[in-house]
Amino acid sequence: MNDASTFQIRIANTGQTIDCPTDRTVLQAAIAAGIDYPYACATGNCGMCVSDLTAGEVHLLAHGDSSLSRAQKEAGQTLACRAQPRGDLAIKWRNRSQTTRL
Ligand code: FES
Repeated sequence: MNDASTFQIRIANTGQTIDCPTDRTVLQAAIAAGIDYPYACATGNCGMCVSDLTAGEVHLLAHGDSSLSRAQKEAGQTLACRAQPRGDLAIKWRNRSQTTRL
């Protein structure tokens, strides 16, 4: 059971739903849950973790402008390594079509 500061994130690529506290990023929660989420820098500078946010709201931490443009944000994309949940989320990564099992 979740408290008010933990939300659920559905990862469309794997079909899994994971818990994520508001002070952690989607990427941190995914890695902690054993999900092989695509990423490289984990600091908002490479764009490898660009994802479609299909439901919910996030707080986006500081990131490089080239890793996520304004147009991408307006199109509903976010950076998993910079996004902290502000509600239950549904998200799908864009940079790898297949999952690999850890
Ligand atoms: S992993 Fe590099 S921007 Fe997210």
